[in-house]
Amino acid sequence: MGQIKFITDFDDKFYLNKKIFVRVDFNVKVQDNIVSEDYRIRSAIPTIEYLVKRGAKVILASHLDRPQGKDIRYSLRPVSLKLTEILSSFNARVTFSDDCIGISTQKMVNDLKNGEVLLLENLRFYHEEEKNDAKFSETLSSFADVYVNDAFSTSHRKHSSTYGIAKFFDTRIAGFNLAQELEYLSLLRERPTNPFTLVIGGVKIKDKIGALDHLLPKADKVLIGGAASYTFLKAKGHSVGESIIEEDYLPWVTRALAAHSDKIILPLDHKVAVSEQSDTYQIVQDEIPKNMRGYDIGDKTIQKFSYEIHNNGLGTIFWNGPMGYFEKEIFSNGTKSVAVSMALAYWRGVKTLIGGGDTLEADESFRCFRKGSNTCINRRRCFIKVLSRR
Ligand code: 3PG
Repeated sequence: MGQIKFITDFDDKFYLNKKIFVRVDFNVKVQDNIVSEDYRIRSAIPTIEYLVKRGAKVILASHLDRPQGKDIRYSLRPVSLKLTEILSSFNARVTFSDDCIGISTQKMVNDLKNGEVLLLENLRFYHEEEKNDAKFSETLSSFADVYVNDAFSTSHRKHSSTYGIAKFFDTRIAGFNLAQELEYLSLLRERPTNPFTLVIGGVKIKDKIGALDHLLPKADKVLIGGAASYTFLKAKGHSVGESIIEEDYLPWVTRALAAHSDKIILPLDHKVAVSEQSDTYQIVQDEIPKNMRGYDIGDKTIQKFSYEIHNNGLGTIFWNGPMGYFEKEIFSNGTKSVAVSMALAYWRGVKTLIGGGDTLEADESFRCFRKGSNTCINRRRCFIKVLSRR
């Protein structure tokens, strides 16, 4: 398989009249059929605009969430409305196919005119997508002449549209978003400016192990909060009550703790409750009672983490994963505080990078506390975003 090229490696004429299959990541938050967080859609606009303006026929494909088969609650139709709104600024016509394969989709593809955009329905309505089914990949590929991947945040999935499809195209191109994210990733992997602080939260240690194996040896400080911290605390022999634990990864966590004990900082206290429905919580130090579960880092930990982020000097900070169940106001303080500390670090000149769908969502949802303030921080400029893993 040849080397992937970048979108500007081809002259303008190359795109004219060509059907281009663009894998995007439009896995955005949709509430009541309205897109409530459109960062990922906007991230794909430079690639879409570039292709549209060069007279290509643009076929966009994405997943949304994790439906079990066809489930209209996970339709990309609301995304097509948002896309229409955004693309209206350069008069690009957007149509939506309520399937991602089949005769009707084929017809819509055939009807595309130069400079038009067609968004396909959720790829995960077919189990074949996640199974990396070769026939499904081939069918998707049959719609287009050229493949563009602009979905960095889902490129770690070995699925039909992100992986299997590539071999059916002679020309495979990295979109602008993918190219930019790769640049940020290499900044992290190859040359993070020290001091280098890692802030890790969220669930799914499994999805972070690859990145952590590379980053832990390079980091000067590693702050671990959120659900990830309970597995670390358990590995250290603490009682974590009913908190989420990734048992399978205890051996890896134990090894990481042994190798990097000097740099890993775990929560000193926790906000705990009986369930996520609770409207009250307790703050506990060290040990979490048997019937309780941790939902946020406590105030002492917030202070400690803010201090460490502040203390980074002019280095690099990479944050992946929320510090707790931030969707619920009473458990959102830890994540909010890290978001604020990151923003302030950015303004001091630190290279701040944020990765992961939930972390981005958290950053977006905390707009509210900056609203109406004269000293409001422009969130678009305050973070360099790295979309990696949820
Ligand atoms: C993400 O949000 O991390 C990507 O869209 C991938 O989604 P997934 O974790 O459901 O594969």
